Amino acid sequence: MKLPISKRLLCCASMVQSGSRVADIGTDHGYLGIYLLQSGAARHVIACDLRKDPLENARRNAKLFGVDGEMEFRLSDGLEKILPDEVDTVVMAGMGGDLIQKILSQCPWRKREGLQFILQPQSAGNVLRRWLCEDGFEIQREEPVQDGHFLYTVMELRQGEPSPLTPGTEYASPALLASKSPLVGTYLARVENALQETVRGLTNAEKQRPERLSYFRQALLEIQEMRKNYAEHP
Ligand SMILES: C[S@@+](CC[C@H](N)C(=O)[O-])C[C@H]1O[C@@H](n2cnc3c(N)ncnc32)[C@H](O)[C@@H]1O
Repeated sequence: MKLPISKRLLCCASMVQSGSRVADIGTDHGYLGIYLLQSGAARHVIACDLRKDPLENARRNAKLFGVDGEMEFRLSDGLEKILPDEVDTVVMAGMGGDLIQKILSQCPWRKREGLQFILQPQSAGNVLRRWLCEDGFEIQREEPVQDGHFLYTVMELRQGEPSPLTPGTEYASPALLASKSPLVGTYLARVENALQETVRGLTNAEKQRPERLSYFRQALLEIQEMRKNYAEHP
């Protein structure tokens, strides 16, 4: 039987250092961990979820695909039930950027040397990028990935002294702009559309919020400037 793994999760998997011990936070079906074990990219996976049912789902799938021997299952709020020396790589995919931020900020050992983080926010990527930068994480690599109609980005972090982000680079990080993917132009076009709508909404709103409006206007201007350098992928 073929594992029904999405392109989005395959992109996350492609960034995992070979032979890692991986924690998959918010595992749900467990497909990422199963794939990493099947492909040999991970030697051990701790699959975590806040809820019992998804965790049971992951356990059933791991058995079905014959990797339950190398996979552990933990009921855990974020990284709460993981010890700092148990893992080399932490993946958080398919969750909102604000939730990923909350989970990371609650982890006291997030700055452990050599720890790899791979993040794929479903929403609020700008909020997450801002917080990461303030917390001293640099986005080392960021790749766009298309799954059906949706366009996501997957980022790999390293600790460092990141340069401050601007409203525009909170939406499209320098690492994303440096990606060789032909999807960067499409990503920028979608961000531009979304920002145009936000600016329109804020401009026409009864209650004016000048600070928010000026943030989104600035982001829009920067994204429009960035778009000049990238063709849109059909
Ligand atoms: C939309 S699913 C994503 C599943 C998978 N990671 C993917 O990308 O396809 C989000 C999962 O995160 C779990 N979750 C939500 N908050 C969590 C938290 N604080 N700690 C761990 N898991 C959480 C949910 O129960 C759900 O199973």
